[in-house]
Amino acid sequence: MNHWDQFLGPYKQAVDELKIKLKSMRAEFELLDAHSPIEFVTGRVKPIASILDKANHKNIRLEEIETEMQDIAGMRIMCQFVDDIHVVVDRLRVRNDFRVIEERDYISHKKHSGYRSYHVVIEYPVQTIHGEKKILAEIQIRTLAMNFWATIEHSLNYKYRGQFPEEIRVRLQRAAEAAFRLDEEMSLIREEITEAQAFFTQKKEKHKKTNRK
Ligand code: GTP
Ligand code: MG
Repeated sequence: MNHWDQFLGPYKQAVDELKIKLKSMRAEFELLDAHSPIEFVTGRVKPIASILDKANHKNIRLEEIETEMQDIAGMRIMCQFVDDIHVVVDRLRVRNDFRVIEERDYISHKKHSGYRSYHVVIEYPVQTIHGEKKILAEIQIRTLAMNFWATIEHSLNYKYRGQFPEEIRVRLQRAAEAAFRLDEEMSLIREEITEAQAFFTQKKEKHKKTNRK
């Protein structure tokens, strides 16, 4: 087994476990209420090439990446509404299977690029055949609109290597503004959406019962 496989093993295990755990949170919320604050969950282990790129870019020595690179294990939780983000973060803070060690609120304080998201860094204990290994993982919690913007901006960033032509930079800022307003508008009509969802869930349940008869 090569060195990278060995190093990344616990991160892969953490991502697999966290996917199950965060998706279970979603299922629990769904049982409880018609509206789940979690829409969907994704996770990934940072590809080796990206780890090396970032280490190089940020002057992180390879011996330090375990402590200095917080997003080798990365999770994303997508929510419908901005308020849902705080519900989810509250639940993460009180869990006993990991420890929240840092929070970065790019929603109250959006980045210059226009980026918005809530970041939580956790220390997650992985059980291995050599004993327990604590690793860092980053959980990004964001609305669907924030995710849409960040995904597009990330692809463009890749294309332009962070050096956006002025016109694109301005367009992206305008798009970020539009995503922000979309979130605001959705929050305003949230009550109505929530009611409609509860109504359809009830209808589905009724339909299921009728079909069972
Ligand atoms: P990184 O070196 O990117 O980890 O920055 P950091 O250590 O200051 O952490 P930060 O919380 O700012 O960003 C971590 C992650 O958030 C990144 O790897 C991206 O996934 C995401 N992110 C941060 N800023 C931006 C942005 O401007 N655009 C997009 N698309 N994603 C961003
Ligand atoms: Mg980071």
